[in-house]
Amino acid sequence: MQNSTIPLQIAIFASGAGSNAEKIMDHFRDHPRIRVGLVVCNKPQAGVIRIAARERIPVLLIEPDRFLRGDGYLPELALHRIGFIVLAGFLWKIPETLIGAYGGRIINIHPALLPKFGGKGMYGNRVHEAVLAAGEKQSGITIHNVDALYDNGAILFQARCEVVPGDTPESLASRIHQLEHRHYPRVIEEVIDSQNIVKSQAGQ
Ligand code: GAR
Repeated sequence: MQNSTIPLQIAIFASGAGSNAEKIMDHFRDHPRIRVGLVVCNKPQAGVIRIAARERIPVLLIEPDRFLRGDGYLPELALHRIGFIVLAGFLWKIPETLIGAYGGRIINIHPALLPKFGGKGMYGNRVHEAVLAAGEKQSGITIHNVDALYDNGAILFQARCEVVPGDTPESLASRIHQLEHRHYPRVIEEVIDSQNIVKSQAGQ
């Protein structure tokens, strides 16, 4: 008998321009086992919302009180059958409610080589400014598991790039974005496959 597999639905949490979200959507558009089923966003004017609309992916706009101190929007995530969460430029801390429900199945991308240049307030250009101010010769990206602390979970993947003389936060950000776009979708797929989530979901 043929074993038909229901695609795993992933949610992308993003609050910004959404260039990573876009690459993830491209990667999984016709994927047999994994689909982007929802975009979760806390900014009504964020670029990622237009990208999701173009791709006909539903968007959940969230409020801080309910997300951070309430039920973490778990009912909506369940409604969309979300089995895995990917943070792509999402700046709020992930509440314990979500960590409890999705433990080990939430990953984040950070635009530097953790454990350096991470923690509260370290996002976007602030990270690149700090890297340049410290005189680092290299920077890069880190993909890691999400736990209850900012940028703290186990590191799953890192890639490096050079910091070159004359770099500005913007030029470094652009090199880092290229690394993110090249690696994040593939690493998401590898992490999901390594956890056998699709298989165990199909066996439910
Ligand atoms: C990305 O560079 C991502 O690594 C960073 O925000 C940017 C979002 O860009 N995330 C953090 O700084 C988290 N601490 P995008 O909206 O174009 O994908």
